[in-house]
This record gives sequence, structure tokens and C-alpha cells, in this order.
Amino acid sequence: MDLDLPDWVEDWARKTPDLKVAPPGPKSKAIIAKDREYVSNAYDRLFQFTMKMASGSAVMDADGNVYLDFSAGISVLNAGWSNPRVVKAIQDQAGELVHSLANDAYFDKEAEFAELLAKISPGNALGSTFFGNSGAEAVEAAVKLSRYYTKGSEHVAFMGSYHGRVGNALAMTSRVKFKQGHGPYPPGVFFAPYPYCYRCWFKQEYPSCGLLCVDYLEKAILEFGGPSGSLASVFVEPLQGEGGYIVPPKEFLPRLRKLCDKRKMLLVADEVQCGLGRSGETWECNSTDTVPDILVTGKALGGGVPLGAIVVKKSIMQTWRPGSHSSTFGGNGIAMAAGLAHVREIFDEKLPERARLLGAHAMKRLNEMKTKYDIIGDVRGKGLMIGVEMVKSKSTKEPLLVPEMQGRVWKKGLMMITAGMYGNVFRIAPPLVISQDQLDIGLDIFEDAVRETPAPMGK
Ligand SMILES: Cc1ncc(COP(=O)(O)O)c(C=O)c1O
Repeated sequence: MDLDLPDWVEDWARKTPDLKVAPPGPKSKAIIAKDREYVSNAYDRLFQFTMKMASGSAVMDADGNVYLDFSAGISVLNAGWSNPRVVKAIQDQAGELVHSLANDAYFDKEAEFAELLAKISPGNALGSTFFGNSGAEAVEAAVKLSRYYTKGSEHVAFMGSYHGRVGNALAMTSRVKFKQGHGPYPPGVFFAPYPYCYRCWFKQEYPSCGLLCVDYLEKAILEFGGPSGSLASVFVEPLQGEGGYIVPPKEFLPRLRKLCDKRKMLLVADEVQCGLGRSGETWECNSTDTVPDILVTGKALGGGVPLGAIVVKKSIMQTWRPGSHSSTFGGNGIAMAAGLAHVREIFDEKLPERARLLGAHAMKRLNEMKTKYDIIGDVRGKGLMIGVEMVKSKSTKEPLLVPEMQGRVWKKGLMMITAGMYGNVFRIAPPLVISQDQLDIGLDIFEDAVRETPAPMGK
């Protein structure tokens, strides 16, 4: 497989990084000042520059600085920034129809997109789709449908989970940081330990643990942890994203599937972040042949245009009556055109396979770094969804605070974001079209920053 950049990537985006002025430059500074005056403070801006344009796996700021992007716009641009197939689909659609009136009329691309999603769904078993506008909105739809179908009202979610920042999606998100000050939350969400084997909640080792965390969910939480027995669904990220890019053992999802069947709960797989090729699979559920009842998708689904969806077993979706759920913009013309083009591009260009190859290369290099540097505690991931957990020292595993290191990486021209319950996990999640050379350049910058990090105090 050719692991160079695709031909369509702009010339300026091939030489990365390319910093002309120390960021933030004067143009960025002026825009940032206006933004701070008028735009909500709620956005958690990591990078102090203003977005101007982007191509492939590179982003240019208002001052002409070019950065290498290891975040893909938070796992959105799987087929690359400004992919021409997506851009053309948007342009063509804009000339014909923007708002598709999905609530009141039919639209060809909505039917076409739903057909495509059914064909690529896990086990080809999920035959019906509802389109909304974001990941969190899709999670809300999954909550509603699982309650409607099972007549239950309680849910299981996992420690470290992230499902969005509104309503029930926020209620099922586990971190205090995101929830503080916004309660009360609806009752009936029970959090179970995710198999975070590097920091096992039960101080066990896999595989001798026998997945004690799932036993605990089944025997302790569901029996004695307070549920009323009115259970609707288990929400799980097959590869946990914001929680720290955690890959669970291969038995985990199949065990949840069995548990849901036994207790007549729906299994909801939230693949908003790990799906559509990022983990090297079409859907991460496929890696264990697990068929969920509801698949939640978003982010890469729209190729950069806001879009989320639930893809559901037909027998379950069909219980909803007309009007059971609705979205003014669901199935929007631009979103359908962009999403269809993006998803087709991901598969026509075999990007899941490319993610596997590039991911294996990155993992090898990162594991070599792990043996060299005491502050790299763990390297884990699949495809191009890789987490590097930073610690004060391997022996204590005490989380290392990384904002200063992240700032240094950015000033060298590499956009890296973090995840994890302690915010100490660097993500390697570039657009899947990144070249092997660019990946290596980014990893070199990362290694420089690791090397330059002073030995932590009090380790
Ligand atoms: C697994 C998962 N679910 C849901 C969401 C929420 O998606 P959105 O930000 O589009 O609402 C995210 C966002 O990061 C996510 O990672």
C-alpha cells in the first residue's frame, strides 16, 4: 500500500510543520482578542491560533504557519482535511438544496446514506437509521429508543466514559470535571468499571483476572448497586476515547452482549470516536464480532459537517411511531452529501487498512520510546487511535501533568490533544491519509518534547 500523501493534498500542506512566525502571530492575536470579547468562554481552547485553511493532515493559521495535525479535528477528518470529494459534494449539493425538510418530506441522499450504513453495519444486522446533528444528539436518541423499546428507564455506563455534554449524554459521562455545577442529573445511570488494565480498579492482572470488572457489574452493581430492575440499556465505547484511548480485552464486548441478552437490556455501542476506520476496523465492534442493538455514530460521519446518527436493528427501530423522535435538521442536505462522500471515500481508499499499517508503525516507535523514557507509562491503541499515558515514573504510575509539554509540542508545529481521566494521555489520532513520513516527523517532535521534559519532582 502506498503510504505517501494522496495526490490532492496541497503543496503547502506537504512540508509540515512550517512555522513562519512564533505562534500566535499578529493576525491570530488580533482575532483571538475579538473572540475573547464576544465568544463564550466555555470553549476549552488548547491552541492559541486561528484556523485559516487545511489540507490532508496539515492546518494553516492566519499568519501562514503550517502545523502537522495529530488530532484530525478530534477524530472528524478521517479522509483528510478538505478532501476534494467531500468539498465537491458540498458545493454541488449547496447549489441544489441545503435544507432537506426531513421531517415532512423524503430526500434521495438520506435514503441512500441509510442504505449504505445498513450495508456496512456490524454483521449487516442494523437496518434502520435516524439522523441527527451531533454525537450527543445521537446518544439522546439511543437513550429514548432503548427506553421506549424495553419499557425500562435505567442505564449502565462506564467509568471514564464520554457521551457528550447535554442532557442524558452528560448524565452518562463519568468525569466530575464535565458535570460539576450543571446538575441535577436524571436518576438511573449506574457506572461500572471499564477494563482500564493499566490502572485496574481491582489491582488485578489480565487475563488471570477473568474480567472481574464485568463480574462486578453483573453480580454487584446490577444486583445490589441500587437499580430497580427496570433496565433499558448498557452504553459502551468499544474503545474508550476521552477516558484515555483504552483498548479493552477481547472478551469484554462479547461478555456485555451476553449480559444484555440475559437481562433483556439493549447493548448500545458508542462509536462516535472510534468508528469509521479510525481503529483500523469499519466499526470497532467488528473486531470481536459483536453486534450491538444500537450503534451510535457521529464525528467522521459528516466529514466535517455536523452529523450524528443511530443505526439500529430494524425490529427495534420499528417500534417508534411517526413523531416518536424528530430533528428539524436531521437528514440535512449538506450533511447527507458530505457524509456520503466522506464515508465512501474512507472505504474506497481502504483507509481502515491504512490506519492499521500506519498504526502498527507508530506503535512500534512509541513502544521503543517507552523503553527509553521513564515518563512514558503506557502505549496502547488500535489503528490510528493511539494513547500514550504519561507518568511521573513507571514505578509509581503517578499521572504526569502535561499542559506545559503539550504547549511545547504545539510551538514546534505539532497539534496534539490529550485525553484520560487525569488528562495525561497524548492522543495520536491524525487523519488516516497522513503519510508515513509525516507520521515520523510528528513522532520525532513528540520524542524531542519527551526528552526535554525535566525529571518530575517527587516521583
Ligand atoms: C464516544 C463519544 N460519544 C459522543 C460524543 C459527543 O459527540 P458531540 O461532541 O458531537 O456531541 C463524543 C465526543 O467526543 C465521543 O467521543
